[in-house]
Amino acid sequence: MGSKLLVKGGRLIDPKNGRDGRFDLLIDGNRVAAVDTAIEAEAEVFDAAGMLVVPGLIDMHVHLREPGREDEETIESGCRAAVKGGFTSIACMPNTSPVNDDASVTQYIIEEAGRVGLANVFPIAAITKGLAGEELSEMGALVSAGAVAFSDDGRCVDRASLMRRALEYSKIWNSVVVSHAEEGSLAAGGQMNEGFFSTSIGLKGIPAAAEEIIVARDCLLAELTGARLHVAHVSTPGSLAIIKAAKERGARVTCEVTPHHLTLSDDMLAGYDTNFKVNPPLRSSEEVSALRELVSDASIVDCLASDHAPHAAHEKEMEFAYAPCGMIGLETTLGVVNTDLVGKGVLDLNRAIELLAVGPARVLGLDRGSLGRGDIADVVIIDAESEVEVDPFSSESKSRNTPYGGRRLKGRVHAVLINGNLVVDDGAFIREEAEVSR
Ligand code: DOR
Repeated sequence: MGSKLLVKGGRLIDPKNGRDGRFDLLIDGNRVAAVDTAIEAEAEVFDAAGMLVVPGLIDMHVHLREPGREDEETIESGCRAAVKGGFTSIACMPNTSPVNDDASVTQYIIEEAGRVGLANVFPIAAITKGLAGEELSEMGALVSAGAVAFSDDGRCVDRASLMRRALEYSKIWNSVVVSHAEEGSLAAGGQMNEGFFSTSIGLKGIPAAAEEIIVARDCLLAELTGARLHVAHVSTPGSLAIIKAAKERGARVTCEVTPHHLTLSDDMLAGYDTNFKVNPPLRSSEEVSALRELVSDASIVDCLASDHAPHAAHEKEMEFAYAPCGMIGLETTLGVVNTDLVGKGVLDLNRAIELLAVGPARVLGLDRGSLGRGDIADVVIIDAESEVEVDPFSSESKSRNTPYGGRRLKGRVHAVLINGNLVVDDGAFIREEAEVSR
């Protein structure tokens, strides 16, 4: 830090400050010092001609498997995958082992992320001890340790009264409670979306109502308590209709949709490929089309989030019923959004960046996602026209469970600046691996 960098000639897309056009960006230390059409300054020049210059992307739904399953992902490998995918900040879910239901785990994650020194990592702590749905975690201690939100993601808080208490307590710190909406008795034993294809390929289905019942319950609890609720991985248009109605009534509700729920559908499970097994499940192509219609509406959808969920190959390579749910997504989200949503006219680039940077920053209360003067210099420079083939085996993640393997996606992350430091240039990490490895 201390040096100046002038990012010149790119197309700056900064939805928070209403900028989209040819702007230069002067970075001094860890902050944006100036944004203007033609800046002359004594600084190292970074030529961004022909590229997009956008705020560092923020993924508010990531599973780093450390502590506990370092064979699937570590904080370091997850951060490398994030940065390679254009994410300068990630929030990580608490379903680790031990669960992040204790300040010591939150502190460990923050310290380890600091040692790695790549993406900014914001821990989301458990709502209930051990994710068991019985007793609230020590929420105050977790906030003091650095937790930015609460969630039992991967599991639903079954008892409405406990969810109510969590929402009430969260107000003390103006925190947000993230709902994994899944009614257990309806989802029990389910392997995929309930519909024509679950019948045709003979797998037990999970109906849309299993999600929508809890979305409705939690929206009502948000209204009752006046607290902030965020609904994770919304997969049905029915859920979005409920969320929209709650927002219109003034409830403090936000939500995210994943790229896979917007681009993949339940017919793709016909080959029993467990890389397509995810929770909530991929829905019918009709529901996917309806979700795609709604995602451009800023009054309904707040964020896109990957739900990056690494799993060991030997666990995914099981009979369908025994394989765990989840797919990795940190390195494919930008390409999938750019190719299958922006490229198909579902979103414009401004809205895509709003969903990938501005929205998550707002939900989590982060001082990021924006490139105005004085803002923290988390910046991604993207070659939007370059095509990259998804190769699971060259992923930075320790896991390979992507359904997009072999796809050619448009949009290559060319350079990444985090807190003003250039960490990726020409698609490669600047520091040698040896320096960031244990
Ligand atoms: O597919 C999923 N995988 N959904 C979740 O909610 C949890 C995640 C995981 O941790 O593997």
